[in-house]
Amino acid sequence: MKIELEQNFLANYNRNSDAVYFTPGRINLIGEHIDYNGGLVMPCAITLGTWVAIASNNDGKFRFKSLNFEAQVDVESNKIHDKNGSLWANYPIGIINEFLKDGKEINGFDFLFFGNIPIGSGLSSSASIEIATAFALNDYLNLGYDKLELIKIAKKVENDFIGLNSGIMDQFAVAIGEKDKAIVLDCETLRYKMVDFNLGKYSLAIINTNKPRELADSKYNERVAECQEALRLLNEEITLHNLCELNAEKFALHSHLIHDETILNRATHVVKENDRVHLAAKALNNGNLEEFGRLMYASHKSLKELYEVSGDELDAVVDFCLTYDHVIGARMTGAGFGGCAIALLEKGYEEDFAKHLTAYYVGKIGYPAAIYISEIGDGPKRL
Ligand code: GLA
Repeated sequence: MKIELEQNFLANYNRNSDAVYFTPGRINLIGEHIDYNGGLVMPCAITLGTWVAIASNNDGKFRFKSLNFEAQVDVESNKIHDKNGSLWANYPIGIINEFLKDGKEINGFDFLFFGNIPIGSGLSSSASIEIATAFALNDYLNLGYDKLELIKIAKKVENDFIGLNSGIMDQFAVAIGEKDKAIVLDCETLRYKMVDFNLGKYSLAIINTNKPRELADSKYNERVAECQEALRLLNEEITLHNLCELNAEKFALHSHLIHDETILNRATHVVKENDRVHLAAKALNNGNLEEFGRLMYASHKSLKELYEVSGDELDAVVDFCLTYDHVIGARMTGAGFGGCAIALLEKGYEEDFAKHLTAYYVGKIGYPAAIYISEIGDGPKRL
């Protein structure tokens, strides 16, 4: 990919690039809609991701081109604080804007991106392009940020510039991920452990429902607000900074404060999902993948029934998995409302699984899903 990007850079900008970088996407194994509630999540980086070739220029302009999109976006340095009409370019623009606000001197730059993470698939193409830009500029210009600072800057871009009130999981996962490791991250303290993700006789399948995530951002922000409302109500009786400070048992003592059924369901999901991540981390430690799989199914059920972020397409995938003997666990991953599911599939059954799932899914939904066998990959690097 590096050579292809360098050649395309030359063809597009009539000059050579100075450096090429890669940053992965992510899946989340378990712990969904937990990061902005201060609990435990378990993501890993995947080998799909974003490549970027860069070269500094002396024209005081930032130029953004992607092999995935037609138009090139050119922005004068003094206009970098404005959001651009082109959605994808706002991610790198937002990062540069933060660096400039922080007093870093960055003159013009030409960028050429390529991504193989399906857009809107819930595999964090946006966090990947944010961290790709931040990591590349920080490394190339020796800006002096450590990884945690880059993660926080990228989250700020997502929250303040793009307008999604997301937590820190995606930026963290794509920046910190390591091959064959899951990250067990406490989103309140930001302490984390890298855990061997040893799947034994199973492999990890990613199933893209190919359902575009309509209205995903506004519904996502609605869920964040509902959790804040639950927290506000609970604080009438106890002092809590976030919902994940309670386990299911303690929550039961105070849940009478929440009268609205929807808010109660949202909070119940959060508290129990956080408990499930603790159990899943133990199961992984003990090599008990069957238990891990059961927790994945339980997580999906809760996201469907209590948190209401699944949908017919994701449910069709998980329903099929429940009937298929060689899958021990499956769930939606990421924000939901479409996007991807993941499944623990017995090795050797990849083709059979794809054939039968496709027949079932097309019958239910009317168009096919895409199925990949995923590898757990490394975080950002210069190539
Ligand atoms: C999106 C957000 C994350 C996280 C997940 C749901 O991917 O960007 O911060 O909240 O949804 O777990």
